[in-house]
Formats: sequence, structure tokens, C-alpha cells
Amino acid sequence: MDGDLLKAYRRKRDLTQEGFAHYLNERLGRSYDKAKVSRWENGREPVPDAVAAFMRRGTRTRARVIATANQKGGQTKSSTALNLAHAFALLGKRVLLVDADPQASVTLAAGVDLEERMARGAVLAAVLDERMAIGDVVVPANGIDVVPSDISLAEFEVSVLSRPGPEKRLKRALSDVRQAYDEIIIDTPPHLGVLTRNALVAATDVLIPVVPAPLDVPGVPLLLRTIEQIRIYENPDLNVLGILPNRFEANTSVQQATLQQLLATYAGQVRVFEPIRKTTAMDQAVYNGVIAVRALPRDNPVVQGYMRLAEEISDEA
Ligand SMILES: Nc1ncnc2c1ncn2[C@@H]1O[C@H](COP(=O)(O)OP(=O)(O)OP(=O)(O)O)[C@@H](O)[C@H]1O
Ligand SMILES: [Mg+2]
Repeated sequence: MDGDLLKAYRRKRDLTQEGFAHYLNERLGRSYDKAKVSRWENGREPVPDAVAAFMRRGTRTRARVIATANQKGGQTKSSTALNLAHAFALLGKRVLLVDADPQASVTLAAGVDLEERMARGAVLAAVLDERMAIGDVVVPANGIDVVPSDISLAEFEVSVLSRPGPEKRLKRALSDVRQAYDEIIIDTPPHLGVLTRNALVAATDVLIPVVPAPLDVPGVPLLLRTIEQIRIYENPDLNVLGILPNRFEANTSVQQATLQQLLATYAGQVRVFEPIRKTTAMDQAVYNGVIAVRALPRDNPVVQGYMRLAEEISDEA
């Protein structure tokens, strides 16, 4: 974090440098003074990691809950959930990644030993089925916590329909852990079934990844209508963070035109984030069992894209 950003955080809280030092000391148990804050702000001393992490975390006492959703397949929901989760962790936040897709892509890509989890039955389906507490299935993996999913979630998706509160179960489960995290990210399956609706009911925010291609973009209005319905009946405060164009091929005129169309369609209504570029390094990272934002060079466009997104939405929280 640089001095300008720290200054912006201080001003947002309407504090003098002295007041800000006091604010930090109370919360972090330090003994900073006005001169110290001034040196951070004018770049003469680096902002300590603990201060940067605390400021980015803000004063939230309950995690923001972001669902990545798009009922169309292959729109980078899982890649976005995983890499955004890790980008937040790299910014010093406490992160929980919840896999609500029976395909378990995010569970595997996050580095969880799925076989071991399945043998113990410690998976999301057990929580939604009220057989286990969420705390009993959370597993740490590479610097974040993960709630793993497995194929039994597909059976649960059918059986839950005849039982009470089919769409509210994830919200209920997450309420037990929201205070322990800064950000909770939920990956959803490629349809608008009961699992995606659980995620949208549990979420405070929804992020819509989309490949800016002619056959992919038309899926967005249907999702926005579903979000509107969820707002009316279940979750009035659900916020659309925005649309994230991803796997963007900047050198193809079709994708360029589709992106422009997307920007024009949603101007003034839904924010469209800066696109994340397509790179072969992404599949390579999955193949090598590593997480792109952690393993690829810092100047890789995908790493820069996710870090920029995480920083941008952190400041709003
Ligand atoms: N920036 C990128 N550049 C290149 N490939 C990417 C990029 N982001 C994601 N991918 C690849 O695109 C494919 C689809 O991504 P992902 O699995 O995240 O989509 P999804 O929406 O979760 O799919 P599903 O609907 O099946 O759940 C994956 O092979 C992934 O590795
Ligand atoms: Mg997926």
C-alpha cells in the first residue's frame, strides 16, 4: 500500500493524522504518532503490512459474501472465484471460498484433498443437509479456507426441494462463520437451480464473469432478471458488484465489438469491470496444480487483472 492510498483511507474516515494514529493504536495495540503517519503518507517510510491489511479489511465485522454467477457454462466463474479469493488473501484479508458446484472444480483447483474430504463426509452437502456444522468442513488450503464440494451435492440439489427452506440453507450455514472472515466467495454451478439460488440468497454481492463472445453475452440479461427476482422475494439488499469480462481476446475484432456492445448495453446500469485477458498460462496453472495469482509472475495480465479487481472492490467495502 502506498502513502496516497493510506491518506485516502484516512480522509474517508475524516481523521487528522493524529486522530488516525490514535485510531490505529486502539485497534492494533501499537503506539504510532502523527509524525509516523506523516512519514507513511509522504512515502518516507513504508506503510507496515499490519496497517495495510487492517485498512483494507476496513471496519467490517461480518464478511462480505460475493457469489460469482452466470448460468452459462465456461464463463470463468470458478477461475474468478478462486483467483479473487487468493487476491484478497494477498491483500491481507481473511478469506473463505465456498464451492457450491457439484463439479468441485474450485475445490480441486484450490488444492484441497477431495478424496480425503469425501471419505470423512466433510463436504458442503453435509452442511446443507444439516449433518455437519460448517466449521467442521472448512479446510485450510494455500492461505485461504475452503468449504469443499463433491458430487453428492447434485443429489442433495434434488432431495432438498421437498424439505423446508431449500434456498436458505447456505445463508443459514454461513451466518455461523461470517464474523471470522473479511470476504466469503461462493462459486456456483452453470444453471439457475437451487444451488445458485442458495448462493444468491446468502450473498451480499454478486459478480458476473462473462466471456465477451457473441454466444455468451446474451446470457447476462436472464441472470440479471433472476437476481431481480431474488431481490424481490428473498434478499432485498443483494448488490450487483458488476460484470467482469474475462478470457478476453483483445486482438480479435469480434471480442472487441462484443465488449463495446456490453459496455453500451449496461452503461449507467451495471458496472462493467476492466476485462481480464485470455492467457494460456491459466490452463497451465490448473494443470500444474497452482493458483494463478500466486504462482504466475506479477506482471502477467491475469495476475494484474485479479489484483486490480480485488483492490478496486476492497476500497468500496
Ligand atoms: N483469463 C483466462 N485465460 C485463459 N483461460 C482462462 C482464463 N480464465 C479462465 N480460463 C479457462 O477457461 C475455462 C473455463 O473457466 P471456468 O472453469 O472458471 O468457468 P466456469 O464458468 O466456472 O465453468 P462452469 O460453468 O463449467 O462451472 C477453464 O479451462 C479455465 O482454465
Ligand atoms: Mg465452474
